[in-house]
Amino acid sequence: MSSPAKPIIFSGIQPTGRKHLGNYIGAIRQYVEGQDRGEPAIFCVVDLHSISVAYDPADLRERVLDTAAILLAAGLDPERCVFFRQSDVAAHAEMTWLLSAVTSHGDLNRMTQFKEKTGSARDLASAALFYYPVLMAADVLVYRATEVPVGDDQRQHVELMREIARRFNERFGETLVIPDLKVPEVGARIMDLQEPERKMSTTGGTESGTVLVLDDEKTIRKKVGSAVTDSGREVVASPDKPGVTNLIDILAVARGVGRAEIEREFDGAGYGDFKGAVADGVVELLAPVRARYAELRPDEAALERVLLAGAEKAATIAAPVLADVRARMGFG
Ligand code: TRP
Repeated sequence: MSSPAKPIIFSGIQPTGRKHLGNYIGAIRQYVEGQDRGEPAIFCVVDLHSISVAYDPADLRERVLDTAAILLAAGLDPERCVFFRQSDVAAHAEMTWLLSAVTSHGDLNRMTQFKEKTGSARDLASAALFYYPVLMAADVLVYRATEVPVGDDQRQHVELMREIARRFNERFGETLVIPDLKVPEVGARIMDLQEPERKMSTTGGTESGTVLVLDDEKTIRKKVGSAVTDSGREVVASPDKPGVTNLIDILAVARGVGRAEIEREFDGAGYGDFKGAVADGVVELLAPVRARYAELRPDEAALERVLLAGAEKAATIAAPVLADVRARMGFG
């Protein structure tokens, strides 16, 4: 009896050591879970994307290692997934150029992220920023991935990569797989502790409302303790209590239970006790990751070895796909 095919999972991760609780709950835990569901599950630190905005080369190398150490600390296992640095696999860059044949200038001009990032300074934006979605399409399509776990903000980019794959197949014959988007439900709901109307974010959020994966216990307690609640005193989730609702969601996720269980437990308790419990939950969730990170991060040679071994595996998977694409397009 044949079992249903397992998905080929691909996701790209921005190189930054400033991963936050929303990233951890929404994305990182989903990668760890995906390792056993995907065959393979491929995760890539997308340093080539980083050059689309101003950056420092030495700093970029550090940030890649920070990110790699966080993901390994969180439970990515290089034996059970393919984990590598994008710039170590040349197929991504080559595939980007080849896919640009079926991507129009208008497609890229319509990308809301490009429009938002450039604003009125469009002429000064790098060509790399304009091309960002083509590189992202290449990342996924060069592995014939079937499933792309990403945040809701990446929806339009995934739509475009699907369109690029469809057009390629129409123009050159059935070659590429059209991948499905997979948005995590929970992580999308983790809001800034100070401004609970907006998502937790290291770029758009408040400093004290953003819990970092690598924050120490004291910092976590301070941030959770000063989280805005609402007037009133009940620990119940409702649209007019975004602050309390967010804390309920965070504790529910940390404990692996539903909202109702948290509401029941804190029925009649004050916000002080409740926040104490949320802080405990977040500390318990992140402290092991932080401790493991402290062990892994100093050994840069070991991190480099892990990334290079991953790159070799990735290159092996990409090679036949790239060969098909090249042949279809009339090269070689
Ligand atoms: N653009 C994605 C982000 O900002 C990162 C990314 C790059 C990515 N390449 C990818 C995500 C391929 C999924 C698949 O989060």
